[in-house]
Amino acid sequence: MIPQSFIEELRMHSDIESVVSSYVQLKRRGRILVGLCPFHSEKTGSFTVYPESQSFYCFGCGAGGDVIGFIRRIENLEYVEAIKLLAQRAGMTVPEDAAEDRTAMLKTRILEMNREAARFYYDRLIEPAGEPALRYLLGRGLLPKTIKHFGLGYAPAQWSALTDMLAKKGFKYEEMEAACLARKGRNGGYYDVFRDRVMFPIIDLRGNVIGFGGRKMTGDGPKYYNSPDTPVFKKTKNLFALNFAKKNGKLPYLILCEGYMDVISMHQAGFTQAVASLGTSLTSDQCRLAAAYTDEAILAYDSDEAGQKATRRAIGLLDEAGIHSRVLSIPEAKDPDEFIKKFGGGKFKQLIEGSAGAVEYELGKIGAKYETDTPEGKIMALKEAVNLLAEMKNPLEREVWAAKLAADYGTTKEGILSQVTAKLRRKARAENQRTSPAAVRAAYSDIIPEKVKNPAAAAAEERLLGAMLRNPEAFGSLSGKISGSDFVCALYRRIYESAMNAAAMGYELSLSVFGEGFSLEEQNVIARLFTVARESHYTEADALDAAAAMKKLREKKTDEEIAGLSGNELSAYIEKIRREKSGK
Ligand code: GTP
Ligand code: MN
Repeated sequence: MIPQSFIEELRMHSDIESVVSSYVQLKRRGRILVGLCPFHSEKTGSFTVYPESQSFYCFGCGAGGDVIGFIRRIENLEYVEAIKLLAQRAGMTVPEDAAEDRTAMLKTRILEMNREAARFYYDRLIEPAGEPALRYLLGRGLLPKTIKHFGLGYAPAQWSALTDMLAKKGFKYEEMEAACLARKGRNGGYYDVFRDRVMFPIIDLRGNVIGFGGRKMTGDGPKYYNSPDTPVFKKTKNLFALNFAKKNGKLPYLILCEGYMDVISMHQAGFTQAVASLGTSLTSDQCRLAAAYTDEAILAYDSDEAGQKATRRAIGLLDEAGIHSRVLSIPEAKDPDEFIKKFGGGKFKQLIEGSAGAVEYELGKIGAKYETDTPEGKIMALKEAVNLLAEMKNPLEREVWAAKLAADYGTTKEGILSQVTAKLRRKARAENQRTSPAAVRAAYSDIIPEKVKNPAAAAAEERLLGAMLRNPEAFGSLSGKISGSDFVCALYRRIYESAMNAAAMGYELSLSVFGEGFSLEEQNVIARLFTVARESHYTEADALDAAAAMKKLREKKTDEEIAGLSGNELSAYIEKIRREKSGK
């Protein structure tokens, strides 16, 4: 544990305004600062920094916390790692023993194991016993130097080849399990997760092996198995081969495709800007990651129905991240890998050069879908086209396409644009509802599951915590009146207890008190409580009132408890409620 005193000192030397400013452009608005939230896509700033309380909160997505929470989120770091980074920035040294954080250590161990595993798989591929796997890869058109460049390998068809090797090197089975390289069998022994598969290591931007994809060569069952998320791997936040694609400075474009083999074939053919999402559909985190390297994406998804659907989805997501899309249509092949193998890199280059802009692509799809030589078909197509135009940010762009549509469909530009305007108004209303505080609160239901069944109790607990946070002098009068066991919501109980402990130790009540024991999602809730408290008029009396309400609600039984009552208990309980209602 890092001493709270060190954390307080670190916070004094890590002004939230200056830390956040190096990631987000902030504009001052009186006592607060506002900018575009780095944690979700938005066009108007809901991300707010409060210098007075050294905290931040986003009214759009509900992310919030102190300077440490901000660094954890934006750099994707564990608590102690974030502290180290801030300490470095402030020129402070983290107390020695504190540096030995278990999660940080485990991460280091997992990265070591992954590196060992990648080397092991590679060695198995090039030794005589790996011949079938090597033959498979060569048969798919890969050159030995490509195999080496990507560090491809072979996981042998044995139960514990890798596990045994790692154990010999001094790794523990629990560590292998955490890396998702080994799994525990029913007899208590451990076995390899990847067996008899061609292996694709996934490497991050710092050159760490963070996970693997494994492809079966023959037989049934899932074709690919990909590492699940581990402490070092979040598949929604990484792009396969971005480590090879990135250059210093912006790239003219990235090519986005579906699979490992597509990426590797393209790189081999000289298209080293190819990357892929990792066995999931494209995420907004991946789009933001890509946006750090380029302003344009060429979508090279499979030519089947699913690939086309994914293309349309990707165009929208990329646009939100500020990336302009072009779409590759791949004739006579199911994916880029197959196309390059059939027709060669030169032809593929022609596809790239001829790739249509996203709008052209979409309008083409819409036109092909309806019988546009009939009035009904025209109307249907125009309706869809209007939806597409409403997605465009730039009014000038909307005008240009409206003019083109008007000419194609024999109607007027003004008519189309007025439809677009109406659609935009509806969208704005829906958007407002989606990011309203109510929607944010709904998103908390995973973190505070008790809230769904006990909304009244949760509300009282929120009021109590809000009033406490606003009136720290209420602590004295509350102790004795209420205790942790009076809380229905486990998270609120932990917040209450942490706050009480901090008060007992004489710490000032700030978000940093809730640093270590709470997850980032839980910290969002806490930051929200602080934000609400700050803007509320809660008094000490509100705290006492909320405490009384909690006590009363606590006596009321939940549906589940009622279901478990015996007949006698039930009548006694009903009688009690009656008495209370009639005020006796
Ligand atoms: P090849 O057949 O080797 O050329 O693969 P591909 O890349 O053409 O595969 P496909 O288009 O079928 O799949 C694209 C990506 O989805 C793959 O690279 C995998 O990451 C993922 N994927 C494919 N099949 C499976 C599967 O059975 N299970 C899981 N979890 N992921 C899969
Ligand atoms: Mn393929």
